[in-house]
Amino acid sequence: MSHAGSMPLVSNTARPLAGRCRVPGDKSISHRALILGALAVGRTRVTGLLEGDDVLRTAQALCALGARVERGEDGVWTVKGVGVGGLSEPDDMLDLGNSGTGARLLMGAVASHPFTSFFTGDASLRRRPMGRVAKPLGEIGARFIARDGGRLPLAVIGAESPLPITYRLPVPSAQVKSAVLLAGLNAPGETVVEEPLATRDHSERLLRHFGASVLVEMLNDGGRRIRLEGQPELLGADLVVPGDPSAAAFLAVAALIVPGSEIVIEGVGLNPLRAGLYTTLREMGADIAYENERVEGGEPVADLVVRASRLKGVAVPAERAPSMIDEYPILAVAAAFAQGQTVMHGLAELRVKESDRLAAIAQGLASCGASVTVAGDTLAVAGKGQPAGGGQIATRLDHRIAMAFLVLGMAAEKPVRIDDGTTIATSFPGFAALLNGLGAAIAEDGP
Ligand code: S3P
Repeated sequence: MSHAGSMPLVSNTARPLAGRCRVPGDKSISHRALILGALAVGRTRVTGLLEGDDVLRTAQALCALGARVERGEDGVWTVKGVGVGGLSEPDDMLDLGNSGTGARLLMGAVASHPFTSFFTGDASLRRRPMGRVAKPLGEIGARFIARDGGRLPLAVIGAESPLPITYRLPVPSAQVKSAVLLAGLNAPGETVVEEPLATRDHSERLLRHFGASVLVEMLNDGGRRIRLEGQPELLGADLVVPGDPSAAAFLAVAALIVPGSEIVIEGVGLNPLRAGLYTTLREMGADIAYENERVEGGEPVADLVVRASRLKGVAVPAERAPSMIDEYPILAVAAAFAQGQTVMHGLAELRVKESDRLAAIAQGLASCGASVTVAGDTLAVAGKGQPAGGGQIATRLDHRIAMAFLVLGMAAEKPVRIDDGTTIATSFPGFAALLNGLGAAIAEDGP
């Protein structure tokens, strides 16, 4: 069902995809670059920032907190930071739109500043749990007044005298880890986060890039301990944001399932803690080659050469989930085009993303004629080579559900319709135009 301001889209059968392309800058790194730039002394210049709604909300919030964030005519973003502990009280609500990362990381940043701020977001973000950050930030000394279930809108009353804490993550979440580390920047002494399963380490890498002392120790159980020395002087720095592997995932799967395709996606970040999807696709038989492997902005990067492939079903272990947590919607689509069953374990966190993604994937695939089951936190898709398509997808304010099902429509027997494509701009502005340039046929779905 569409609503006012929504943009229904239809994805028809694509031509074989061909060409070279680039994807927007990494969303996780973009948020962190702006936030750390704001907490540094002096000027930070960010090249390749994702100019999606989520990141622009973080930029606005940082301006409201006293930093200067500006886009130059050359597309390079400049941040004039206030230094660790230098944020000031915003005079209005901070509205983070659809962005869980923006909301949770900024709650961390303000938790160790002695002022009160108010956070809200769109209907999707207002449903998502914030207790997971409020709990450790409470131990640091901040107080929270939130709606039932720890939900937005909420007020953060920052700590007058923030304490360094040691916190073991109860859920594998880079957002919670990063919120604690950002709060710990303005606490004296050492802030320690332990994670039983390693999550993306962009915060650790960037904190070092800006001059903080961050030590990482491997734990016997395979987890990690991250130790941050508090109250460092962060210094403004230049950085280049690599292409987002989570955005590239949609193009890669499109090229795998549309017969006769061959595309090159340039400059994709392949941090090992983010690249689980590519490992999985290769296990499924995908022809994906890494060319020009290099390091950019402290992250491993490569050009991906992707050719249409016959895929087979595989089992995806729970331990891999944090390294591909945003990629299950598009992996489930790839699985529907494979031969045999793909079983994905350890997906509890998908229930609390921009939508309940387990439910959204299951419902969407079923409406496209694919055979799918959810049991607890396991998703199983029985691939039959080519699903029927023809579905009408409820995207639930979730950009990744929208993009995944548009990709499915490119190679299904019948077109796929989604109720709203506006949310795609949160992470991948220009998605439909870029895919259409490669051979897709995605169009507005008129009345
Ligand atoms: C992110 C971490 C993940 C991911 C999100 C971005 C980050 O969320 O789903 O899109 O930038 O730290 P969780 O920390 O909730 O797993």
